[in-house]
Amino acid sequence: MKEINVALTGGAGQIAYSLLPRLISGETFGTDTKVNLRLIEIPQVVDKLKGTIMELIDCGFKQTGSLLATTDIKEGVQDAHWILLVGSIPRGIVVDGKKIEERSDLLRINGGIFTGQGEAIGELAQEDAKILVVGNPANTNALIGRTKSNNPTQSWFAMTALDANRAKAQLAEKAGVDIASVTNMTIWGNHSPTMYPDPYNAKIDGVSAVEAINDLDWIENEYLPLVQQRGKAVIDARGASSAASAANAAIDTVKAVDSQTTEGDWFSAAVPSDGSYGIPEGLIFGFPLRTSAQGSVEIVQGIELNDFAKSKIKVTTEELLSEKEAVKDLVD
Ligand code: NAD
Ligand code: LMR
Repeated sequence: MKEINVALTGGAGQIAYSLLPRLISGETFGTDTKVNLRLIEIPQVVDKLKGTIMELIDCGFKQTGSLLATTDIKEGVQDAHWILLVGSIPRGIVVDGKKIEERSDLLRINGGIFTGQGEAIGELAQEDAKILVVGNPANTNALIGRTKSNNPTQSWFAMTALDANRAKAQLAEKAGVDIASVTNMTIWGNHSPTMYPDPYNAKIDGVSAVEAINDLDWIENEYLPLVQQRGKAVIDARGASSAASAANAAIDTVKAVDSQTTEGDWFSAAVPSDGSYGIPEGLIFGFPLRTSAQGSVEIVQGIELNDFAKSKIKVTTEELLSEKEAVKDLVD
């Protein structure tokens, strides 16, 4: 069997609880690959993590490699091929007597976590390591981590796949089609209420979703806010942030990055901008992506953006620039 080293922060959290079995079941990295898992947690909950490891052993998957619980980020990311940065505080909780309402309010609380983690990854993980940031605010946390890693051969991603799955599901429901009929979904920009889930370039059975649905009022005034605010709606209903669907989206992202994209389709994740579509270089921005046969992940070029799309992309770009400004001491 091949072997892969996978590090994950926040191993005792609720996303991890849904994610971990699927990382070692053969589903994510293939049935021919043994997965060595390094789970990184804060000291207060590392014992809880040991309980999770017992359960992973009890699953009895053939692909299970070594399982490690640690509080030491350096030990966790040493030689890691994939690193999933989930560990951080979710919104909805009360800090200093104030409820955290927006993901950007987590910037100061969570941003600091990503400095030391970025440094350790840059120094110790594989030279071609792939890093997926799930912890919020995911784009700017990835910006902090990537800056501190100071290692241009590693690839950083922030997760927008959950938004893309939500966006596809709502279109499928409205159109009365199977979700497999919905392709080419892009979440432009930030994983926040300013994200732009692009219905013009998304397709339903090969036709623009806007054309297929033929209800612009619904698209602009119901569909977009519904997708943009779905995370909050789940928190309000469940009393906790999305976990099973977030874990599923993390697996979708790993698989999309690691395998050639189906001809004609693309997937959604936030990556460092190379200036495509006029987005300032280096911002971690949601783009349409394709993985080539050789395994490189490229931003899809030449997508047509109408004035509506451009105005939405401008808003989310400005938000990301202001988040960057708010943490400028961490990204300079
Ligand atoms: P959770 O509170 O259940 O778990 C988070 C875990 O991270 C906790 O066990 C905590 O001890 C751990 N942690 C905190 N600081 C750490 C550190 N420095 N190193 C290692 N571990 C650390 O939260 P959750 O529901 O699993 O969510 C985790 C994060 O993912 C939150 O920030 C949430 O907002 C975010 N999220 C993002 C998306 C997305 O689409 N990008 C979706 C859902 C949730
Ligand atoms: C989500 O989109 O579900 C997560 O980012 C959690 C949140 O705070 O909304």
